[in-house]
Amino acid sequence: MQIHETAFIVSTYRSYHENISKDIYAKLWNNSKTEALIPSIMESVSKKEAILHSLRNRFFHESLQSFFDNNKGGTLINFGAGFSMYQFMLNDNVSTIEIDKKDIIEYKKSKINLWTKEGKLPKRNIQYLSLDFNLDSEETMINSLKKLITSQPTFIILEGVLFFLNQKITNKLFRVFKKIQNTNDIVGSVSYLPEIENTKVYKRLLNYFDSNNDTNDSFNHQTIPNSYYRNLDGYSLKKHIDEYNLSKIYTPELDIKDKNQILNENMYLLERTD
Ligand SMILES: C[S@@+](CC[C@H](N)C(=O)[O-])C[C@H]1O[C@@H](n2cnc3c(N)ncnc32)[C@H](O)[C@@H]1O
Repeated sequence: MQIHETAFIVSTYRSYHENISKDIYAKLWNNSKTEALIPSIMESVSKKEAILHSLRNRFFHESLQSFFDNNKGGTLINFGAGFSMYQFMLNDNVSTIEIDKKDIIEYKKSKINLWTKEGKLPKRNIQYLSLDFNLDSEETMINSLKKLITSQPTFIILEGVLFFLNQKITNKLFRVFKKIQNTNDIVGSVSYLPEIENTKVYKRLLNYFDSNNDTNDSFNHQTIPNSYYRNLDGYSLKKHIDEYNLSKIYTPELDIKDKNQILNENMYLLERTD
């Protein structure tokens, strides 16, 4: 399993539950290679994965809509954007900066340009930036982003990425966020709590990655306590909800009895303070 494949997988999950994720464009990325992987993940890790990822997308979909509606535009900056399609659901006064590794960015840019020309996607103002969070310096990230941000305020998303990074790189990213954002700007972040490490479902996830790992694409499996977000320099925690509680709002019929039986990710909205 290579990291870019995980971006195809979560996009396909969203396409399976459009009514929950609200991502009506995710299906454009569907392909037979990814679809062939999904049954074995659902079987060996958890059957709820597709719905949970769609709930996560729904949370950010709603948060972005209300932020940019209230501010009448601005810039969405998506760190580790993968095949996210939020910008096409937002008003066209919102600009987007998509950041990911070079191969994903080049592929995404070419497909988005093609689909926009073909009329499959509405026209949006999108800029693309290739970065490797592990390799690129704080200064490189800050300088390239400062040049690209032309419309304020900003909403940064870091979704489905922290699991793959270590703490040092995570700290570096939050220092970058602090440098490029202004008061009242938002960061939306997703991570697992350390408690999940004791659950069977998380062990099955790690086992899946271990047994399907590609030696050229090693990654971490980071978990982060709530206290990390509460104590972040330059930010105050505005909202925290997990997928278990999102499910009670958007998919009560799922009736998930025990949060320890799902890969329960936590969503955080952080506001830049003075
Ligand atoms: C599971 S996908 C999530 C994609 C998207 N945020 C979403 O939620 O659909 C993880 C993404 O993080 C990106 N990523 C992982 N490590 C990275 C790194 N060191 N530098 C830049 N991007 C990275 C991957 O390329 C991939 O697109």
